[in-house]
Amino acid sequence: MGLADAVGRAGTPVLGSAPDATPAHCAPPMPARPDAFQDRLLADPVLLDDIAEAVRGPFHVLFPVRVAENVRAFQNGFAAAGVDGFVYFGKKANKAAAVARACAETGAGVDVASSGELVAALAQGVRGEELMVTGPAKSGELLWLAARHRAVIAVDALDELDRLRELGIAARILLRVLPEGSSSRFGLNRDELVTAIDRITAPITLAGFSFHLGGYDAVARAEQAIALVEHCLHARTCGHPAELISIGGGFGVDYLDAESWARFRNTLSDSWFHSQPPGDYYPYHFPVPGAAMLAAILEHGDLAGRLRRNGIRLAIEPGRALLDGAGSSVFRVQGVKNRTTQDTPYDILTVDGTSLSLSEQWFDSEYLPDPVLWPARPGTLTPTCVGAATCLESDLLSRRRIPLTRRARVGDLLVYPNTAGYQMDSNESPFHDLRLPPKVLIRADGDRLRWTLDDTAR
Ligand SMILES: Cc1ncc(COP(=O)(O)O)c(C=O)c1O
Repeated sequence: MGLADAVGRAGTPVLGSAPDATPAHCAPPMPARPDAFQDRLLADPVLLDDIAEAVRGPFHVLFPVRVAENVRAFQNGFAAAGVDGFVYFGKKANKAAAVARACAETGAGVDVASSGELVAALAQGVRGEELMVTGPAKSGELLWLAARHRAVIAVDALDELDRLRELGIAARILLRVLPEGSSSRFGLNRDELVTAIDRITAPITLAGFSFHLGGYDAVARAEQAIALVEHCLHARTCGHPAELISIGGGFGVDYLDAESWARFRNTLSDSWFHSQPPGDYYPYHFPVPGAAMLAAILEHGDLAGRLRRNGIRLAIEPGRALLDGAGSSVFRVQGVKNRTTQDTPYDILTVDGTSLSLSEQWFDSEYLPDPVLWPARPGTLTPTCVGAATCLESDLLSRRRIPLTRRARVGDLLVYPNTAGYQMDSNESPFHDLRLPPKVLIRADGDRLRWTLDDTAR
């Protein structure tokens, strides 16, 4: 069977899926959602191999056009609800220059938390006024640069506010609120907010308030946003403009279909894992993701109406959700070992990179969308886990045994889908002096795909 034969309906490769009956010591199949860009890349008979030859090691592919589409979906969500809104990309989720560039080109700003991120965003054409500076106890350098570039600064503590005041230069700030009942280390509590509002005088301007919640709950975000509208109204009575609130990020991504996720949750077994089973999982099936979640937030408690009536702009800082479908990570199989558990054989692959390039593995968790073995070839279902080219026993890109539809061979490529949000580069380091995987940008040019290196890789 050639590669073309292995491409199913709508160009969907059949390799990521496996027959229903998987052995007891193997996890069920969890194919990533079909994606036209990704499918086209997998169906190309030579491109992935050509790139792997050229870069001589693992690499990440990025589809910048997807970032632009995701930004526009959020912008359209604001427009549909009649709300003045602004999207800041949470830069920590991906360092590629092309992502910041896509934001600049689509009128999105960038949420930065270090001088390096701030400079990298400016270098891609994001204007200073389009930056939101977050993070606790920001360095003097970051505060100074942020104020000079007229960025909005989310102030996290009273001593940080004092350091900003001492700079003596104009700055537009938000006060980051510690939500009632939260034990977060971030934000100002009720008493600190009163003190801060009192202390803010020219040349500092109190533009409004912000928060960021852990988890992915739309209702909790809407209710906290409503509380922030009240904070704005109160601050106005003290003479501050207070016309902006930021509700942070945490917009979910729908990585897996409902059935695969339910099967995984309902049949989860320690026996699927080569080593210690993970402690927790991202909600890989997320029925109301991204811009649809924004719509749900705006609808709850008539948040949209409250914002409109009070002339308040709503800022959001999505990281992961702006990167949905925007890239994959590619590793070369460097070794194949056979082992047996419960009298059943399985393979342990060693690839040419490390799990530092698949961050989920570093949070006592596991990245669930199945990697796709490339190229497509016929074969028999083979439970397979994936190790890294390091000396660490625990350095596994996939701890669970995945039902690959054939045995992998040395030289094959393993493509982890939909990794642009946090997975690629938030934890990477040149451990063992291994080169960091470069980012490769893919764009469609008529009937062919073209690739080029991202600026961060040059
Ligand atoms: C202040 C702030 N904004 C935005 C984000 C981005 O969150 P996400 O990528 O889940 O959208 C984070 C993540 O930790 C954050 O701390």
